[in-house]
Amino acid sequence: MTRLLTSLAVAFALLGGGGHAFAQLPSAAPPTAAGGPFALTAADGRAVTDQTYRGKWLLVYFGYTHCPDVCPTTLSEMAAALQHLGPLADRVQPLFITLDPRRDTQAVLAEYVTAFDARIVGLTGTPQQIAAAARSYQVFYERVDRDDGDYLIDHSSYLYVMNPDGRFVTAWPSDRNGDQVARDLDDLMRAR
Ligand code: NI
Repeated sequence: MTRLLTSLAVAFALLGGGGHAFAQLPSAAPPTAAGGPFALTAADGRAVTDQTYRGKWLLVYFGYTHCPDVCPTTLSEMAAALQHLGPLADRVQPLFITLDPRRDTQAVLAEYVTAFDARIVGLTGTPQQIAAAARSYQVFYERVDRDDGDYLIDHSSYLYVMNPDGRFVTAWPSDRNGDQVARDLDDLMRAR
């Protein structure tokens, strides 16, 4: 009971911080299978589907550019992982899929992801397309309105790895550091 209350307290604290309560809730276990069809638009206007990147390892992360904490940290680690991978990074396509298409226009997304690493592709779409992509990846997200008229998006936070055939391999908690992500991706690529 105490442990449950502690978990809830932590979850509410994170919620208050505008963060990612779903990832911390006991019920939100890491996805064991995820990924599937999606149809979105890249920050440069190209139409992108799950078929677009066949032949590459995908590193997929869902978030939004107004995220105050976890998303920027995760994208920093994603960029660090690409650096660590060196030439092997050519076999990896990192994707950042927005959960806030209203504010994350193509232009906003392009500027945001490029600030971390130009190899990260930002994807947006209609609210329906985003909802479908999130369903495919078992991503939970919810708009939380604030008193000042601004809003946050609570969302689960995992780094999804898809293999070159487009099959789900694993989902890592988003707080995994870039060094570790690079080592694990390296292992996965060598084992294939
Ligand atoms: Ni976030």
